[in-house]
Amino acid sequence: MSEKASENIKAEDWAGEMGERWLAHVDKFEGMIAPVGDALVATANVKPGERILDVGCGAGATTLALARETGPTGRVIGLDISPALTKAATKRAEKAGLSNTSFITGDAGTKTLEKGGYDLLFSRFGVMFFEDPYAAFANLRSGLSDNGRVLFACWASPMMNEWILDVMQCVTRHVEMEPPTPRAPGPFAFAEPDYVEDILTKAGFSDVKVDPWSGTQYIGGKGMRAKEAAEFVLNALSIGDMARKQPPEVQAALLRDITEAFAAKETPEGVAMKATAWFVSAKP
Ligand SMILES: C[S@@+](CC[C@H](N)C(=O)[O-])C[C@H]1O[C@@H](n2cnc3c(N)ncnc32)[C@H](O)[C@@H]1O
Repeated sequence: MSEKASENIKAEDWAGEMGERWLAHVDKFEGMIAPVGDALVATANVKPGERILDVGCGAGATTLALARETGPTGRVIGLDISPALTKAATKRAEKAGLSNTSFITGDAGTKTLEKGGYDLLFSRFGVMFFEDPYAAFANLRSGLSDNGRVLFACWASPMMNEWILDVMQCVTRHVEMEPPTPRAPGPFAFAEPDYVEDILTKAGFSDVKVDPWSGTQYIGGKGMRAKEAAEFVLNALSIGDMARKQPPEVQAALLRDITEAFAAKETPEGVAMKATAWFVSAKP
């Protein structure tokens, strides 16, 4: 067994290799979390003309959806730390003929925002990677108009997310994992609602609500078979990083076990897994 693997992710990882990896597998990532995005955009209840910031916008799937909602009198800015992703998102918006959206590269935790420039701060899974989330949310709040709102999705604990729990169970059979550092930047940093409430309250937000969203998501998006989905997990998810450092026989065992676990959840639509996210909303 090699050195203990860890799941912690840093902002600079997203600015470089992780951002490029997200882009390389973007259809699969976006396909997988599409149900969360659809529900979050619907919850946002965007009015025509609203000015929106999509925080950690990735390749811009939700930015484009929001741009359609706010229409030609509104504006959506996608902000992301990965230059590869903002470049891809810009091209996508051009291709879609959406002129009310644009993309900027920067760290949302420190980037100076137009004071009161936004009616909605929105994010699908783009706000759990800040080194100092208290300072980052105070910074984001400065960009919110007096009547504005924040709405974002973050993952609930792995225990409530079959899609990662099943994978972790397979991985720990073969690889010694560091116990995850609670609240460390990463996909599950905001798993505890009390912690999220504390961050937003201390950053100056009021009326903080943390509502559960639960649904089915398909590993790698709809239409994938178990083996293809297992390969996606090992090649693209951060948990796959440590798999690639293992000897070939361990890598083969991981692929076999994950494929077997996914086969048990395979449906005609794809590998269907239960997922739970928190939809967090607040006012300035
Ligand atoms: C899980 S992906 C979600 C992407 C996109 N929101 C989506 O749903 O398709 C997380 C995104 O957050 C971005 N990100 C991470 N830390 C960031 C930071 N400090 N400032 C801006 N973007 C950040 C990453 O580059 C990545 O695009």
